[in-house]
Amino acid sequence: MAEWQSSAAVSLLLLLLSAFIPPAASEAAGGLLRWASTLHNLPQSNISTWPRAAANGSPCNFVGVSCSAAGDVVRLNLTNSGLNGTLQAFPFSSLPNLTHLELSVNLLTGSIPPEIGLLANLVDLDFSLNQLSGRIPPEIGRLANLQVLHIVENRLTGAIPDEIGRLESITELALYENRLTGPIPSSIGNLTKLARLYLYSNELSGPIPPEIGHLSTALTELFIDTNQLSGPIPASFGNLTKLTTFFIFDNNLSGAIPDEIGNLESLQYLSLHTNNLSGPIPPGIGNLDSLADLELSDNRLTGTVPASIGNLQNLEILFLRVNNLSGSIPDSITNLTKLTVLQLDTNNFTGDLPDTLCGGIQNLTVHSNNFSGSVPTSFKNCTTFIRVRLEDNQFTGNISEDFGIYPNLQYLDLSRNNFHGEVSPSKWVSCPNLATLRISGNRVTGEIPGPIGNHPKLQALDLSSNQLVGQIPLELANLTSLVKLQLSGNQLSGPIPLEIRSLTKLDSLQLASNRLNESIPGSLGELTQLNDLNLSNNQFGDRIPEQLGRLVHLSTLDLSRNSLTGAIPSQLTSLSSLEFLNLSRNSLSGSIPNGFAQIPLHTVDISHNRLQGPLPTSPEFRNASMEELEGNDGLCGGSNVVQPCNATDNGPTKNRNLRRFLFRNPRGQQDHEQQVLLAPGFDTKIMYSDIVTATDRFDPAHCIGRGGYGTVYRATLPSGIIVAVKKLNCSDDSSEDDESHKEFLREVEALTEIRHRNIVKLYGFCSQSNHSFLVYEYLDRGSLASVLSQDNSGARELDWGKRLNIVRGVAHALSYLHHDCAIPIVHRDVTSNNVLLDRDYEAKVADFGTAKLLSSDSSNWTTQAGTRGYIAPELAYTMRVTEKCDVYSFGVVALEVIRGSHPGELVLSLASSTEEEAAAAVVSLDDLLDRRLARPVPGFRQELENVVRIAALCLNVDPQFRPEMRLVCEMLSKGHKRKVTRGRQ
Ligand SMILES: *[C@@H]1O[C@H](CO)[C@@H](O)[C@H](O)[C@H]1NC(C)=O
Ligand SMILES: *[C@@H]1O[C@H](CO)[C@@H](O)[C@H](O)[C@H]1NC(C)=O
Repeated sequence: MAEWQSSAAVSLLLLLLSAFIPPAASEAAGGLLRWASTLHNLPQSNISTWPRAAANGSPCNFVGVSCSAAGDVVRLNLTNSGLNGTLQAFPFSSLPNLTHLELSVNLLTGSIPPEIGLLANLVDLDFSLNQLSGRIPPEIGRLANLQVLHIVENRLTGAIPDEIGRLESITELALYENRLTGPIPSSIGNLTKLARLYLYSNELSGPIPPEIGHLSTALTELFIDTNQLSGPIPASFGNLTKLTTFFIFDNNLSGAIPDEIGNLESLQYLSLHTNNLSGPIPPGIGNLDSLADLELSDNRLTGTVPASIGNLQNLEILFLRVNNLSGSIPDSITNLTKLTVLQLDTNNFTGDLPDTLCGGIQNLTVHSNNFSGSVPTSFKNCTTFIRVRLEDNQFTGNISEDFGIYPNLQYLDLSRNNFHGEVSPSKWVSCPNLATLRISGNRVTGEIPGPIGNHPKLQALDLSSNQLVGQIPLELANLTSLVKLQLSGNQLSGPIPLEIRSLTKLDSLQLASNRLNESIPGSLGELTQLNDLNLSNNQFGDRIPEQLGRLVHLSTLDLSRNSLTGAIPSQLTSLSSLEFLNLSRNSLSGSIPNGFAQIPLHTVDISHNRLQGPLPTSPEFRNASMEELEGNDGLCGGSNVVQPCNATDNGPTKNRNLRRFLFRNPRGQQDHEQQVLLAPGFDTKIMYSDIVTATDRFDPAHCIGRGGYGTVYRATLPSGIIVAVKKLNCSDDSSEDDESHKEFLREVEALTEIRHRNIVKLYGFCSQSNHSFLVYEYLDRGSLASVLSQDNSGARELDWGKRLNIVRGVAHALSYLHHDCAIPIVHRDVTSNNVLLDRDYEAKVADFGTAKLLSSDSSNWTTQAGTRGYIAPELAYTMRVTEKCDVYSFGVVALEVIRGSHPGELVLSLASSTEEEAAAAVVSLDDLLDRRLARPVPGFRQELENVVRIAALCLNVDPQFRPEMRLVCEMLSKGHKRKVTRGRQ
């Protein structure tokens, strides 16, 4: 392949060509070779043989080239040929007879050259699945013979040129999955032969041109969904009588669905969901004889479902969920014998469901309406059911008599209705695929039948808030796939069976508010995946088993309102993820283990016990309210509400266990191979040598990022634990005296003691002559900034729920650093780059304190703090970095999370000094939201408004008017709680 490496060789070859073959052919061959020579990785591509083929004269033997009888190149098909490079040198002018140009599935970059317009005979053009960028050149309009144009899945930007309307021969136009903006040109209405138009998944905006309605002779498929189109659906669309598929979902369309839609007699697929459409469903929709799929969900439709819907004999899928539809469901719906999916949930429907509703329905969701009466008698024999959701209505009837045996059923939710009867063992057992069974909040009576244990696939069982009696059957222990078991709010009695230990996948165990008694089995400590354990309001006695200390993932532990005695076992201080702890109203005695001071609890309630002695030294205990501490024998510790401990008490002592781990070997020590790095909470020690080995001596292959202070590596330790190692750009600091070095180590030590679920753990630090580095917890998904800047599908993965959780997480982390650490820590560089995400998209703030720690001169460190675009405005004229600088940066990051990109100038316009101003900022919510995501459902929307309001306050130019992070957390959780209660209504 040496000839490709030398342009001199190519020139020679071109010279030879021009000497022996007809000029047109030699020009084509020369042009193609010259273009090929500009491509990268050519030897690996399919056209590496071109030079050899050229030796016998014409381009007609080139791989991918087809010629006419006259020797003209008419076709170039290099689909999936490994081409890496641009089209800038493509010989457009040398290929005037080309009819087919197929370059899809390659690595082409750069823009489409305007010379494309020279290919006047082109019939078929396909550049799909490349990385082409820039605008579509208007010259494309010169291709008067073009029938098929495919440039899908590239990175095209800008507006679709009006000249596209000159492609008078075009039958298929596909530009989907690019980044095109601006309106759909009305000139498309001139393309009378156009049969298929695919513009979905771009950023097109503005109204849909009514001219598209003129394409009545040919148009069969219209995909303009997943853009930002607004305005009404043009009535002219009623002319499109050949249309079989009409997708305009996921836009911002408003107005009523035009009656003319009833004229689209060929329509098979109609999807208008996720827009702002209002008004009624036009009765004319019943004329669409061929319709198989009708999706009108997530709009603002009102009125009743027209009876004519029963005429849609071919309908298989009907989605009307999340609208404001009302009235009862017309009986005619039972004529739809081909229906498999019927989703009517989250509307205002009333009345009974039609009594013969079944057909072949597999997926039926009617939850969150006002349906009443008994379920259709046809349900008894509806063996096609797979997923059935009836929750949150007012259905009545007997749960064991009114339902049948469903061999395929996977999911059944009957919660919060008025069902009665007993849980019938025979019935549910005959649903071998059942994974979720929820009957909470009804009037179910009797005992939990043992045979319910014969569901190997059951993952969630919720029978809470009923009138169940008797004991928890041993057979429940056979449900080894169970993740959630909710039996709270019944009248169950007796002990928790020891066998429950086999439910090792349990994440949530809720047995509150029953009459359970005897002692809490220690075997619960084997349920190591538990996140939520609630045994409150029962009659448990005896001690709290120390084995509960093994539940290291536990975030909520509620043992309140029982008769527990003895001391709080010190093992509970290993529950490092615990956020909510409620031990109130028992008979616990002794002192509270101080180890609780190391747990970043959010809420703690130990009231009404017999506890005494010093409170743990953490802020959660010291700042606890009277209600959370009262009714004990003798707590002390000088908190807001209890007395200081007396003089014989040594007061708060620093936990000596922590010190033991740290920095045994000051730098300069010779045997650094033995140096221990490790901080509290890690069971194994990390050796200096482990880090060096795991990163192959800091080989760039292990590098995962670079920051101002150093390079970050991913290191897998011998124990299998993955850590992030930040190797510092250390200057030669031999001049640094011993005292400042000790000071430095003290600061690192303080940072390693910070443990909070939203803060990246710093495991330790190592410094010696070759390398200095910090060892951190490793997080799978990298930074928030990188996740937000991913392509559409990557960013969509980060849905509204996850984004709100990220905002809350960052707020909690900063509040903790500011208010709950022994010495308040100002982060100083809060940015989306310093917020990392774990596998579950939980936010973890990174790099706290390092700005201060790592600056060479600790008296003058303000000059280095912060990142442009996130720095509080006062830092332009003062050197004083305060907590309020972090509050400002938090405001920027919160908006960035909602918007999907840095808010830029918006920061200035949103900054508010009063609640009223902040409320006004919310008016622009729709302009702020990340357009790559579907519009938020009302609950999320309210929370997002709350975030914008809070962010606006945080961005106040005057630091003293910004709220403290503690208050920010409170305001965020209020918005959150409001939503939760709303959702339950
Ligand atoms: C394409 O070529 C560029 C430039 O030589 C190179 O960096 C890149 O890795 C190549 N891409 C692939 C997938 O081979
Ligand atoms: C172009 O080439 C590819 C790969 O060789 C082939 O699969 C495809 O059918 C060709 N396209 C046409 C239109 O001939």
